[in-house]
Amino acid sequence: MNAIPKKRKKSLNSRTSSAGSGDLDKDKLPKHVAIIMDGNGRWAKKHLLSRIKGHEKGSDAVRAIVRACREIGIAYLTLYAFSTENWQRPRSEVNALMTLLVKFLKSEQKELAENDIRLQVIGQMERLPAKVQQALRETMNLTRSNSALQLNLALSYGGRAELIRMARKIAQKSKSGEIDPDAIDGDIVAEHLYTKGIPDPDLLIRTSGEMRISNFLLWQVAYSEIYVTPTYWPDFGKDEFLDIIIAYQRRKRRFGRAS
Ligand code: FPP
Repeated sequence: MNAIPKKRKKSLNSRTSSAGSGDLDKDKLPKHVAIIMDGNGRWAKKHLLSRIKGHEKGSDAVRAIVRACREIGIAYLTLYAFSTENWQRPRSEVNALMTLLVKFLKSEQKELAENDIRLQVIGQMERLPAKVQQALRETMNLTRSNSALQLNLALSYGGRAELIRMARKIAQKSKSGEIDPDAIDGDIVAEHLYTKGIPDPDLLIRTSGEMRISNFLLWQVAYSEIYVTPTYWPDFGKDEFLDIIIAYQRRKRRFGRAS
């Protein structure tokens, strides 16, 4: 990831999407975009490659989308990189994903730091191999004062596990008298999630055409706009991402109220 040229800002303001669907409105950007990156395995199969090659190509797409977010001014990007269920994949695939993650962090940390991007993790970080935890801590430390874009990697993340963790934390505080059970509301719940302090996603994108939430951000996506694209994650790039943002900007968000 190289430094982002300042002059690109102008071209984005007047951009017409590749699908010809219109211009990006810089004043109506989603503040938080969350992505279920799916289809690495099917992409690999289609190209007669190993699943691991699919994940490798997928990490190139991660780089491209992080850059695009930084360039257009998205404040938060959350990527579902490894779920609590993914531990059940063959050991060789899990190991390859962990190695890829370390490789990605090592190769990108300098550029993340230089481009004012902050890395955060949501999920059971303590379950990750020591070398992954170390690379994550290193990158989080290096980027902790950055503020233009917060990149949240969901790792060993599961929405149900997150809700159970939240319930336990609140129950413990209720037991010790720190929280009055009658005072528990949405704000208190949100404060006990991994995403504490992060606004809910405005837009949830899923690649590879599957119409599922797959245990991702169950509390947080209550009112997110959902966009599913048939594109496999390794083929997902900046142009399609911008088209989806433009489509999002045309939607009417009502949050359950009358229009
Ligand atoms: C889903 O595709 C993808 C994953 C489980 C892993 C996502 C990992 C990456 C995009 C690459 C590494 C990540 C970073 C942050 C550098 P799948 O394997 O379930 O695909 P399939 O459904 O077609 O089999």
